[in-house]
Amino acid sequence: MLWQRTADRGLRTRVSLEEKDNMRSKIRVRYYNLFSHFYDAFVKMHSGDPGGKLRDHLAGKVGLEHGDAALDICTGTGAMLSSLCGQVDQEGLVIGLDFSRGMLKAARSKLGARANVFLVEADVGNLPFKSDAFSGVTCSHAFYELKGDASDKCLGEINRILKPGKRFLMMEHDIPKTRFVRTLFYIRIFLMGRSKALEILRDEERLFRNNFSRVEKSNTEDGRSKIIACEKA
Ligand SMILES: C[S@@+](CC[C@H](N)C(=O)[O-])C[C@H]1O[C@@H](n2cnc3c(N)ncnc32)[C@H](O)[C@@H]1O
Repeated sequence: MLWQRTADRGLRTRVSLEEKDNMRSKIRVRYYNLFSHFYDAFVKMHSGDPGGKLRDHLAGKVGLEHGDAALDICTGTGAMLSSLCGQVDQEGLVIGLDFSRGMLKAARSKLGARANVFLVEADVGNLPFKSDAFSGVTCSHAFYELKGDASDKCLGEINRILKPGKRFLMMEHDIPKTRFVRTLFYIRIFLMGRSKALEILRDEERLFRNNFSRVEKSNTEDGRSKIIACEKA
């Protein structure tokens, strides 16, 4: 275990980095639980995706077939899940994963009961699935929410659970054109941690190339979002 020395009222105490990470993670889960109560209303006001067209587009690019198993990480209130269901049909399986129970509750009440859709509460850094289990994984407008080394851990885990030759697609906002929104965009990225933010801004694809053999970047039709498609060797 790694240890970090901290001063506490003159006494030297030791706090494990693992404990610190756990505490930070709990705070983040609480934040998202709270946010879950107005997340959909917030997205409705600010999203450039009325009717979920962008998410349908993303699901269509994964390369899923009827009967496949698909996973959406950081699913939030489950905005991607209906689009993925459309790709795998009734015989397929769709799983939405998130570490916020509040977000998952909101997803469940929005989706209703569907026999082939499951919601799983877990951290993306430790996916509770067998290796080579999924034919496609998506992450919509959530990758930049992963702090510290969570994005690296998450990519390693996605590579593990994907079947060979199958794809992970992540969609995120591209650098906005208007100054105010661009400032908000940079704040969001730098909240990931300074070194991660610089890595993303300098050469984002390299982050994905560390885990995947083929990485392709494209833009959505409206030019506001980008899609990074990663294929497992
Ligand atoms: C912007 S929101 C949801 C976005 C959603 N995919 C969409 O398209 O509307 C980001 C989500 O990521 C989840 N999240 C953040 N860090 C996570 C982690 N380490 N493990 C699992 N979920 C995480 C949050 O709980 C939140 O629901």
